[in-house]
Amino acid sequence: MHPLKQRARELATQDYRSAPSVREAILALTNYDESQVPPYTLPSPLQTADGKTIATANEWMNFQRPAILNLFKKEMYGQMPPRPDQMAFEILTERNDALDNTAIRQEIRIHCSMRNGRSHSFDMLLYRPKNAPEPAPAFLGLCFKGNHATTDETDVRMTGQRLGKPELLTEDTRGIQAERWSFRELVKRGYAGATICYHDIFPDHAGGWDQSIFALFEDLDGFNGAHPKYSSIGGWAWGLSRGLDCLEHIPGIDPTRIALHGHSRLGKTSLWAGACDQRFRIVISNDSGCGGATLARRFFGETYLFIVNAMPHWFVKSFRQYIANEDAMPFDQHFLIALSAPRPVVVASAAEDLWADPKGEFLSAQNAGAVYALFGSKGLEADAMPALDEYVTGDVSYHVRTGKHDQTWVDWQHYLKIADRYLV
Ligand code: GCU
Repeated sequence: MHPLKQRARELATQDYRSAPSVREAILALTNYDESQVPPYTLPSPLQTADGKTIATANEWMNFQRPAILNLFKKEMYGQMPPRPDQMAFEILTERNDALDNTAIRQEIRIHCSMRNGRSHSFDMLLYRPKNAPEPAPAFLGLCFKGNHATTDETDVRMTGQRLGKPELLTEDTRGIQAERWSFRELVKRGYAGATICYHDIFPDHAGGWDQSIFALFEDLDGFNGAHPKYSSIGGWAWGLSRGLDCLEHIPGIDPTRIALHGHSRLGKTSLWAGACDQRFRIVISNDSGCGGATLARRFFGETYLFIVNAMPHWFVKSFRQYIANEDAMPFDQHFLIALSAPRPVVVASAAEDLWADPKGEFLSAQNAGAVYALFGSKGLEADAMPALDEYVTGDVSYHVRTGKHDQTWVDWQHYLKIADRYLV
């Protein structure tokens, strides 16, 4: 066995939570050296469990796609709960002069309730172009730091309360991630933009279960860690689908033209949400890395060993079995991208974000092409990684931006190029 993997297996048996030295040893094992990438063979998404090869788009959609989706549910992201028994969309605020009078801004509470008496709600912030000639296409994505952090408008309600850390909801968090959302530019280009704080769907910590949307469906009091059936990524993805349910009820939005985006853990989430909910027309993964777009078998940058120990709630419990055992997985992450075929998928990397393995993200995007080919598409139209800041277009598209792990205007210019092509 490759020495890095051998060591990873040893570390997987040690107690991560109580021993800081284990955490350090795990981080010290991170491989950033291309020459240390172990030899690997990628499984083919076209190969069925009983050894047949999928040859047509119909076979893919009706047989292989559902089989792969189930594999991911069982092994990685967990089951997707159904829609709640009842939903209601309550307009909390509305302004017709937002963003210097270019946009209509709404804050909408999405109420989910169940016949068992349980309920859960979270708030969406939505900007849409004013005086648009027709219902607008929209970008939807979850945010990390609350809706108020995504906009420079200072009268937006604070969200993210379910995390239970009021010290993070201070006035100085307003607008701190506005560039990641670029609402002003979107509206100028004829798009709407919408966001929900991910903590309000599932507070992002191992004990967040009883405050999460899963409590609508299960008794989770005191549950902590990795769940046998569900994951927080699955919960956030469910929340994105509820966001889309809400957009379907907003006059002025065209719900058939929604692009889903997400950065980092929320990029992992957008890929999974796009796989599960085919209403999303474009799926965008920004620097999603390990457990998102990148190939696990490369063992480059973040490993399963780290992610499963540091963020146990992100994946289902049985996912642990693949730590340093990636070759045993019946899939790799190019399968996840392929689940969105034939819809467009955008994969964005950042050059300095080696933790997320830009090359692994590229190779994954490229290898999803086998499924796009069934639909007569080239998938990613590139044989080699493009130069920095150059966009490779195609139904699967890719770029690697100069700079660090982030979602910037350079990334947005790529998304908009793709959206202009497919949504307008
Ligand atoms: C950590 C984690 C990554 C994740 C990132 C983020 O770095 O290890 O997997 O993508 O956080 O979400 O910001």
